Amino acid sequence: MRKKNCIITGGTSGLGLELVKKFINNSFFVHIIAKDSEKIKQLTNYFYEKNIKSFKFYRADLAEKDELDKIIFEIKNLDTIDILINNAGALFLKRETNSNGIEKTFAVNHLSHFYLTISLIDLIKKTKNAKLVNISSMLHKFAKPNFNDINFSKNYNGYVAYCNSKLMNILFTYKINKIYPNYIKCYAVNPGWLNTNFGNNNKSNIRFLLCFIRNIFAKKPSYVAEEIYNICTIEKYLNFSGKYFEKGDISKSSNLSYRADLQEELWIKSLKIINEQKNMK
Ligand SMILES: NC(=O)c1ccc[n+]([C@@H]2O[C@H](COP(=O)([O-])OP(=O)(O)OC[C@H]3O[C@@H](n4cnc5c(N)ncnc54)[C@H](OP(=O)(O)O)[C@@H]3O)[C@@H](O)[C@H]2O)c1
Repeated sequence: MRKKNCIITGGTSGLGLELVKKFINNSFFVHIIAKDSEKIKQLTNYFYEKNIKSFKFYRADLAEKDELDKIIFEIKNLDTIDILINNAGALFLKRETNSNGIEKTFAVNHLSHFYLTISLIDLIKKTKNAKLVNISSMLHKFAKPNFNDINFSKNYNGYVAYCNSKLMNILFTYKINKIYPNYIKCYAVNPGWLNTNFGNNNKSNIRFLLCFIRNIFAKKPSYVAEEIYNICTIEKYLNFSGKYFEKGDISKSSNLSYRADLQEELWIKSLKIINEQKNMK
């Protein structure tokens, strides 16, 4: 029997790594998109030591469209895509841009996943009931999006940029669910506060204190990986496409996330920015 293909972005640490393990242990072939070559090497060795071979790494910085293009080209050789989990995420307290001048929180957390998904859409549609999971956050409720300055060029605030990107994950989920209701099952997931290294790329005096508190109070990412695995594999969830999940249950996302005009505007602006990046080359 063919192994089902599951693609996971940011599968080298935290929630992404737990998802990779969960799907591999349940007979999926897992395609892992990740940036850090050293982590990729270490994990490859770890899997080989355990005699696990049903995985493939694709190295790319999701902020960079050219790097994403190369792996999309490779992934298009697959016969099917059964599950795509857009998990990678980052927080940039200081404003950073990619090589085309696009602000990185937007580029990594939303635009890369939007582009990956729509580029692979024909392949995804080939599988009946293919699943798309976008990892969001409850922090989307604090978003203050300004679609006239999606690049956050004025008064940048890293936390607001992050909250905005997590709202975009939900707007995108709701929109794609409307566009392809008969083909794809789409879910937005708030994983809750996780005990991972998230945000550690930012230097802060209170980081050590935060890590300490996180070790005690935050959730194990393996629990959330189990919840997401269930959403992707248990039949009852087929009826819940286009929903937002918390703790494995359907929940209500912010009022802004249900606004059809914002869903549409984000879709159109994301396409426009991708095309502009194409024309820069
Ligand atoms: N931690 C929390 O409390 C929390 C709460 C709510 C939502 N979330 C969301 O959950 C998801 C997973 O976060 P996590 O807590 O597991 O964080 P994490 O341990 O920091 O993992 C993030 C993953 O994303 C990858 N990534 C980041 N930037 C990338 C880029 N430019 N290109 C390619 N890969 C990139 C990282 O790979 P590299 O190491 O190779 O950069 C890493 O594998 C994120 O979307 C986050 O927003 C987290």
